[in-house]
Amino acid sequence: LSALRFDPRLPAYKADPWGAYRNYLAQTPVFQNPDGSWVVASFEAATRLLADRRRVRKRPDLLLRAFPTGDFRDHNANTMTFMDPPDHTRVRRAMAHAFTPGAIDYLQARIEQIAVELLDALEDRSSFDLVEDFAQPLPLFVICEMLGVPPDERPRFKVGAAAVVAGLEPGASAETLEAANTAVRELTALMSRYMEARSGGGGADILSLLLGLGQEDTLSPSELIHQAIFLLNAGHETTTTLIGSGAWALLQDDAARARLQSEPELYPKAVDELLRLYPPLHFTYRRAAERIELDDQVIEPGALLVILLAAANRDPAEFPEPDRLEIDRPNAKRHLAFAAGPHTCLGNNLARMEASIALRRLFERFTDLRLAGDPVGNRGLIFQGFTEIAVARGPSSPCARHPQPAQAHA
Ligand code: HEM
Repeated sequence: LSALRFDPRLPAYKADPWGAYRNYLAQTPVFQNPDGSWVVASFEAATRLLADRRRVRKRPDLLLRAFPTGDFRDHNANTMTFMDPPDHTRVRRAMAHAFTPGAIDYLQARIEQIAVELLDALEDRSSFDLVEDFAQPLPLFVICEMLGVPPDERPRFKVGAAAVVAGLEPGASAETLEAANTAVRELTALMSRYMEARSGGGGADILSLLLGLGQEDTLSPSELIHQAIFLLNAGHETTTTLIGSGAWALLQDDAARARLQSEPELYPKAVDELLRLYPPLHFTYRRAAERIELDDQVIEPGALLVILLAAANRDPAEFPEPDRLEIDRPNAKRHLAFAAGPHTCLGNNLARMEASIALRRLFERFTDLRLAGDPVGNRGLIFQGFTEIAVARGPSSPCARHPQPAQAHA
């Protein structure tokens, strides 16, 4: 049908993912890759497929083939993101107890406090790395607190989470997969220890809460450990990416920053717009469970579906002028950065709140913050973000690459 091809490992894609998505959207928003998988770029088709509980499934029996045997594979097979009903329904219902609006509200004051403490530590620094010094520790501290991880053990979770997330990337090397195996073993040992310590119940953390659930929602200890490790990964790297990319985008847009300063109640809306423009996960996978007819094409049962969340988020049919940052875009919240349907991100409201607080606190504290160099990309394929964003405070020096407006007009 066409010469279109989606392979995130190709240099042409890596050089300009957004250009590739634009091209698919303009030519054929649903197409078959040479390897037989189906690529879905349009907002309409992606939303419809993600929400289709009958014909679209995870089919872990097929999806997990990509992972060789080992602890990492076993771990993934037991996490809710790789489950279908009835297991998915049961595990998700139990885990949802930790993400009720009340549970999220309860965390708000604590997140504000963590943000303030991190910014206090930067008060005397004229330059810093926005990722390492702020975007990375904030969600790590939040999820570790939710899981009851003591502060001195956080660094082990940071390293472990990064290793597990790297193992999920398509075509991960044998070395990366071995590191993921090791990380899963270590995290399992740590989580088991926390869980034993909490078996008496009564703690304010998620493990205590989930251990104390009634009969109907009880997960086995091993199920619970797998979900806890998954939460650590799901809730940490992604939110770091959102805060980092979001701050980077706002630092390049003086008008947006000025508007947020005078109307801080816009932060939650702005966060959705930033999620739309820079989704931390660029794509996700599903399997056709039945024959699907879509845009005059036929997808056979068992076919792999590659849903391009990042492309759908910039589909001009849904989001006019899709590449423009419009902090109060009316329908920004319809983005697919958290996917949609039965597997919609369970932590979406928590992530939104963390990012709103982080960005507001950051820009309220440092009104003179600016980028101090090109950010460093993480080289991820699914998980695309920055590992380093150099920033500085105060006016840029006269020898800076980009002249200030006053100098430009001098
Ligand atoms: C900006 C931050 C985040 C982004 C962009 C994000 C994105 C996603 C996406 C796209 C999925 C669906 C994956 C798929 O269906 O293939 C997902 C699932 C999930 N996320 Fe998030 N996430 C974020 C933060 C969080 C946080 C903070 C938590 C919890 C602490 C969390 C917990 C989960 C869970 C439990 C699932 C599995 C849901 C299921 O399979 O039913 N996420 N996330």
